Amino acid sequence: MVYAGSREPFKKMEKKTTNSPRMVLLKLGGSLITDKDVPLSINENALRAVGAAIRSSRIKERRISLFLVHGGGSFGHFYASKYHLSQTPKKVLPIGITRTCHAMLKLHSIVKEYLEHYGIATETILPSELLRRNLGSFSNPGRIHFINAVNNGLIPISFGYVGLEEDGAYVVSGDAICKAAVNSLKVCRTIFATDVDGIYPNSNLEGEIIRELSKDHKIITSKHVLDVTGGIRSKIKIGFELAAMGTEVFYVNGAMTGRLRNLIQGKNETKSTRIVNL
Ligand code: IPE
Repeated sequence: MVYAGSREPFKKMEKKTTNSPRMVLLKLGGSLITDKDVPLSINENALRAVGAAIRSSRIKERRISLFLVHGGGSFGHFYASKYHLSQTPKKVLPIGITRTCHAMLKLHSIVKEYLEHYGIATETILPSELLRRNLGSFSNPGRIHFINAVNNGLIPISFGYVGLEEDGAYVVSGDAICKAAVNSLKVCRTIFATDVDGIYPNSNLEGEIIRELSKDHKIITSKHVLDVTGGIRSKIKIGFELAAMGTEVFYVNGAMTGRLRNLIQGKNETKSTRIVNL
């Protein structure tokens, strides 16, 4: 196993040295990469902006190790909602599972194609390989695949999908993968790239974004009709959970190449929301 050396990103290995790359986890929200209001449609401009941001971040030169995760947007959520899939296992129509999975695989392939166009070499790590339900961290085969991808110069990428258990099928959100990643890896920074500039005080996106979000803020949210994994409320909740686990957490408009690049590169002075004061 290729676990030796400074490229090792897993928590179980020795303490971080000055040589270790900084691990950045980038979640591409479904709201960013798809048009959430039109089933099965992508947001090309956003995908281009993300590709340009990652390419111009020069992660290799800057010794940044990236892990990408993307959501389902109007691909996964469309079918998951149509066939009543949720994050709790239950029996649903088998064709609903197939259609949800197929839509996610299609979206995943599109995301990879856009990234490839920007010279970004990715390696798919299937969620089923990476996660086991209730495990909360990466499974061993997932870890090995992950580290082998990194050691071959590839950027690991995973995505929200459908998990299968004896008692039924359930949605594995990209955010659940992020949580497992922060549990398993030395993630310095987690960036949630969305279709808006950051977290607003209300769901109408009125006023200015909150630059430093603490638990004292009262946010008024509403659930997106298609979103089976809980919408913005759960995105904020997971952000606080991840921050409590020791990673910096930012929410940024992923369609703004410069902002996303700044955050990937570790610069904080960019329009975004950062979680503070746990
Ligand atoms: C959802 O993943 C995956 C499916 C619906 C199958 P996420 O919950 O991470 O997706 P977004 O980012 O909210 O769209």
